[in-house]
Amino acid sequence: MAEGQMADVAVTGLGTMGRNLARNFARNGFRVGVHNRSAERTDELMDEFGHEGDFVPATSLEDLVQSLQRPRRVVIMVPAGGPTDGVIDEISPMLETGDIVIDGGNAHYQDTRRREADLREKGLHFVGMGVSGGEEGALLGPSIMPGGTAEAYSALEPLLKKIAADVDGTPCCTHVGPDGAGHFVKMLHNGIEYADMQLIAESYDLLRNGLGMEPAEVGEVFTAWNDGDLESFLVEITAEVLAHVDGATGKPFVDVVLDQAGQKGTGRWTVISALELGIPVSGMAEAVFARGLSSDVGRREAAQAALPGPSAPAELADRKQFVDDIRDALYASKLVAYAQGFDTIRTASEEYGWDVNLGEMATIWRGGCIIRARFLDRIREAYDRNRDLPSLLVDDYFSRAVADAQEGWRRVVASAAQLGVPVPGFSSALSYYDALRAPRLPAALIQGQRDLFGAHTYQRVDRDGTFHVDWSGDRSEEER
Ligand code: 6PG
Repeated sequence: MAEGQMADVAVTGLGTMGRNLARNFARNGFRVGVHNRSAERTDELMDEFGHEGDFVPATSLEDLVQSLQRPRRVVIMVPAGGPTDGVIDEISPMLETGDIVIDGGNAHYQDTRRREADLREKGLHFVGMGVSGGEEGALLGPSIMPGGTAEAYSALEPLLKKIAADVDGTPCCTHVGPDGAGHFVKMLHNGIEYADMQLIAESYDLLRNGLGMEPAEVGEVFTAWNDGDLESFLVEITAEVLAHVDGATGKPFVDVVLDQAGQKGTGRWTVISALELGIPVSGMAEAVFARGLSSDVGRREAAQAALPGPSAPAELADRKQFVDDIRDALYASKLVAYAQGFDTIRTASEEYGWDVNLGEMATIWRGGCIIRARFLDRIREAYDRNRDLPSLLVDDYFSRAVADAQEGWRRVVASAAQLGVPVPGFSSALSYYDALRAPRLPAALIQGQRDLFGAHTYQRVDRDGTFHVDWSGDRSEEER
């Protein structure tokens, strides 16, 4: 194939996301090699969208590789895990030194670190690239979180910045950091997404089952909230979902949907990773637990038969105030979840030597991705003020925001308990907030318990050292 006809980039794996990413490259003027294990998918793409740009269909990975100019840039868009390894194993021997394999799936960052090291041994670049925004984002402009080497990123940057979402002239794409950094940040995006969705769901539950609002009315509340600090894609689509009427029954759509939430696993990965790093991510964890509980049908049915709710439902004196309080609780709890998420990215960055710029992560999440929101600009500004902020919650802007919200937040958690409406996200976030700011925590008692039953020792507030009490003897204290 003549040099001028060689493809700029290739995509193998033409499922919805892969197909739309390929279309996005083509619609932005790049010549795109396209391949799918079953050739029908490639044919379908060419038949339906071939007119959109300059595609180079390939019937085999060999043809796909041969269609590419150097350094070759091959984007793999197949399911995470085994299928991705399979494509890497098959295509690597076809590539030459300096070529770049990009995994655009939701891969686990540890798999990405392994793959990056393996391919580096072979003189190849491996880029774990988080792509957020779903099908529409992949086509019209996702938030893109590539990891890998700076050399690989410089070869990819012109293409990725062209296809990424753009906010105020800034593409929602940046080099996140080496090896698995990109997929780690994408994983945290998904963990935050879970927490955000759970908090919105709890707000809905309180408005619906606490105040007795109909779905359409709750949708109007979310529409109103979307004009303020809570403006976000997730709040916007919540209003749409709640306004939707089921065509088959004429009932509110949300009432005909089975109340059992699915999860592909990225939220779970996030919580496990945060636990391994020692960072509390109560918001994300409660969101994962809530999804699991919702699907635990047997236990739920048994509990519905056996467990009573509040004897006398609480009376809510001021309904308007309660709606405002829920808004405040949602914003404050969302802040806690984002603070925990950014704490986790910072800790992993230190652990793995990634040097992730947290302000830049907020910047590229302003558009294209599922958690895109106005308040990510506030997060960017917070890290611009202090790159080493110990917690988002102690930034002047955010500490004031939570201070303004906390009375309403506390009323919501208290009322929810009296109403018997579960709010694990709101209540765990409030407890995290109160624990983080507490001058003394009951961990002192836990240290005493541990020393008594396991001689695990403790430290003192009044002098350095490690101590143990002879609990079974004269209870004297000895220094260890
Ligand atoms: C995105 C989405 C995407 C996927 C979710 C759904 O960033 O575009 O987060 O990755 O739709 O991960 O995952 P669950 O099935 O776990 O909710």
